[in-house]
Parts: sequence; C-alpha cells; structure tokens
Amino acid sequence: MWASCFLLGVRLVLFQAASSCWGQEDVNSMLAPQAGRVMALGEWEERWQEDRIGFHQPQVHKMLETNIEKVLAGRTAVRFFFPLCGKAVDMKWLADEGHSVVGVEISEKAIKQFFEENNMTYSEEPVPAIPGAKVYKSSEKNISLYQCDLFNFSSSIEGQFGAIWDRGSLVAINPRDRKKYAALITSLMANDCRYLLDSLLYNPELYKGPPFFVPDEQVHNLFGSSCDIELLQSVDALTERQRAWGLDYLTENVYLITLKSTSVL
Ligand SMILES: C[S@@+](CC[C@H](N)C(=O)[O-])C[C@H]1O[C@@H](n2cnc3c(N)ncnc32)[C@H](O)[C@@H]1O
Ligand SMILES: *[C@@H]1O[C@H](CO)[C@@H](O)[C@H](O)[C@H]1NC(C)=O
Ligand SMILES: *[C@@H]1O[C@H](CO)[C@@H](O)[C@H](O)[C@H]1NC(C)=O
Ligand SMILES: *[C@@H]1O[C@H](CO)[C@@H](O)[C@H](O)[C@H]1NC(C)=O
Repeated sequence: MWASCFLLGVRLVLFQAASSCWGQEDVNSMLAPQAGRVMALGEWEERWQEDRIGFHQPQVHKMLETNIEKVLAGRTAVRFFFPLCGKAVDMKWLADEGHSVVGVEISEKAIKQFFEENNMTYSEEPVPAIPGAKVYKSSEKNISLYQCDLFNFSSSIEGQFGAIWDRGSLVAINPRDRKKYAALITSLMANDCRYLLDSLLYNPELYKGPPFFVPDEQVHNLFGSSCDIELLQSVDALTERQRAWGLDYLTENVYLITLKSTSVL
C-alpha cells in the first residue's frame, strides 16, 4: 500500500489519482455524517404516492446527452441497465435510438407513470426467480422495468449489460449498502460494458440526504480494484433546490467506469 501510493504519488501529479491512495480513515471520517442514515423502501414509495419526486427531470439528462458518444463507443443496439430507474425519460430516449433498456425500480407507480406519460402500452408479468416481483414490458419499445428491490436483481435475470446509466442510484441507496451495490453493479457488467456514473459532492454536515454525498475517494475504493475509472466531467450543480436544503456547494461528477481488461499483477 505505502509503496504503491509512493510510486503513484511520484508518477502522477493529478490530485484525482493521488487521492485514491487516501487512507480508509480519511474516507470514513468524510462519510461519518451520513453513515447511519437509512431510507426504508416504504419511504420511497411514500414519496411517489405524495408526488415528492423533485429528482425527476422532464428532459433527457444533460450529462447523459453530453457523454453519450463515450458510452456508446461506436456501438449500436446497446443493452442499457438503469438501476433505480424511477421514470427517467432517458430510457425512452435511448430506446428511440434503437437501444434496449432494463430498469429496476421499487415503486409500481413510478413504472406505470413512465409508460403512461410516454404513451406506451405495456404488459405485466410475475418474475418467478424473484418472489413478489413483476416485470413491465413496453409493447412498442425495447424497455423492461422490474418492480423489485434492486438487491433482489442479478445477472441470472437479464444477463449482463453493455452500458449502465447510474443517475440518482449510487447516491440514493443507503450509504451502508454501497459495497454490496458495487458488487452487484460490477456483476452486471459485460466485458465491454461502459458504466456512466453520476455522483454528487457536497458538505454532508449540512444535509442528511438523499441524495447522499459520495466522495471521489469512495468511487475509487468501491470500483477501483476491478475497474478503470475516468472522471469525464465535474460541474457546479447548485440550484435553488439544493440551496433550500442548506447546501453551499454542490458538484456533480460524471465518471466512465470500465472493467479492467487484465488484472493488475
Ligand atoms: C433518486 S430516485 C432516481 C430515479 C431516476 N434514476 C432518476 O434519475 O430520475 C431513486 C429511485 O429509486 C427507487 N429506489 C430506492 N431504493 C430502491 C431499491 N433498493 N430498489 C429499487 N428501487 C429503489 C426509488 O423509488 C426512486 O424512484
Ligand atoms: C402523449 O400523448 C399526449 C396526448 O396525445 C401528448 O400531449 C403528449 O405530448 C405525448 N407524450 C409524449 C412523451 O409523446
Ligand atoms: C430488444 O433487444 C434485444 C437485445 O438487444 C434484441 O435481441 C431484441 O431483438 C430486441 N427486440 C426488439 C423488439 O427490438
Ligand atoms: C430480496 O432481498 C432481501 C434483502 O436484500 C433478502 O432478504 C431476500 O432474501 C431477497 N429475496 C430474493 C428472492 O432474492
């Protein structure tokens, strides 16, 4: 650890790279204010029932639009996975471009609204492998949305994916579940998978979340052993909505994460 950090420190002047060598204690102290925060699945459902869904955006997400070429890398008909998909219009946008989409979302209301608001008809079937789960399939587009806890989903259900769009997902699951989340997400990545991750940086002393704060160091700790991680974009995302939460800064980071082609030593 010391030796590799020293070497990295010497070879790379980039703060980003060097920061992946920060000690676990430093990362833990950054995460401490939100470490114990737990949002029950029922609380998400309540938000949908009460239309408290300020995270939803009526337009295709800017960061997806801006980086789509890097995600596709020349490929057509890519299989996209949307963890914690909500009713993201991005799913329709990609399906309209000939890609297929599989999403997972706990709220049935969110799934039905997605199809209804996009004027799609859909079928509804149980998922034998996941007790209690249902899958909603668009009749017109290649979109299948699983209504279940994400942690009940696995590659045995729909195989692996060529791309993942993670917006409002890593930042929305409970902080204590992040390791489990990273293991699940990497298990869903096909060898050529290009995983676009949108994460948020802010002062976690000022707001309890969700969305939760996910520092760059943790993105590296979670995915760095099996993946290459490239920071594509870092933008100031503070708006009145987050000012009202008490935040004084908000940075939105977008990463492109790919499986390492060969394991390191
Ligand atoms: C912050 S929203 C983001 C939705 C969507 N990705 C977007 O960008 O609009 C998080 C969504 O995940 C759902 N959710 C939260 N925890 C979940 C879980 N463990 N399994 C499945 N869905 C979950 C919530 O109902 C909510 O719709
Ligand atoms: C769905 O249909 C309604 C009524 O025809 C229309 O106003 C709306 O724009 C359509 N929505 C989409 C996303 O195409
Ligand atoms: C949906 O996508 C899958 C995987 O890309 C493909 O095999 C299938 O033919 C597509 N179906 C339609 C109706 O486009
Ligand atoms: C679903 O997930 C919950 C909690 O993660 C777990 O207790 C349960 O056994 C899972 N069920 C299935 C069918 O995988």
